[in-house]
Amino acid sequence: MIAYMDEQAGDTFARETLLDRAFGPGRFRKSSEKIRVGRLPAEGLALVARDDDLLVGSVRLWHAEAAASGTPLLLLGPLAVDGDCRGAGVGAALMRLALQRARKAGHGAVVLVGDEPYYRRFGFSTAGMAELAMPGPYERDRFLGLELVPGALSGAEGVLRPTGRLVPAEPATVAA
Ligand SMILES: CC(C)(COP(=O)(O)OP(=O)(O)OC[C@H]1O[C@@H](n2cnc3c(N)ncnc32)[C@H](O)[C@@H]1OP(=O)(O)O)[C@@H](O)C(=O)NCCC(=O)NCCS
Repeated sequence: MIAYMDEQAGDTFARETLLDRAFGPGRFRKSSEKIRVGRLPAEGLALVARDDDLLVGSVRLWHAEAAASGTPLLLLGPLAVDGDCRGAGVGAALMRLALQRARKAGHGAVVLVGDEPYYRRFGFSTAGMAELAMPGPYERDRFLGLELVPGALSGAEGVLRPTGRLVPAEPATVAA
């Protein structure tokens, strides 16, 4: 049975392996990476799916804001499910839990770059996204948003910039 929960510190290697398999080496060149690099995901919004001890799914959301309007929002992604587990509702369960948690935490809106035919079932669309932009190349028709609070994207304008907490610096190693 698959269980859904917060990502743990020890999950990093398994999560990165899953993402490498799902997206290949080009994943670090995506515009979304500019929002994620050097930042921590939003509190309570780094989730995994586990089949016993095996990590089979991952989704994370990141704090950002629209630079011109200052509108706060969350960027969702990547979402990935292990090839052997696809088509069984794992991706949908991760999405539903993430959106439920984001709503409960009081976030107003979630945006992502992804396939509309998949994400529309969760309510994502291009509505309200016209004046927003990713910080780099992306396909406009794959830039989707979802208001968790009605009107949260109205007036949203500008290029997304990261606002998440910085990853703490590694403590300097002192030679003995
Ligand atoms: C996309 C992904 C996360 C879906 O996970 P999943 O656990 O297989 O999804 P679910 O079981 O919840 O949903 C499966 C349904 O979504 C559909 N689907 C999957 N990927 C899709 C896509 N890119 N576009 C449209 N529909 C898609 C399936 O055909 C299936 O349809 P059905 O319910 O009518 O049979 C998974 O396929 C994956 O990791 N893909 C590689 C990485 C990726 O593309 N991530 C998303 C970025 S756009």
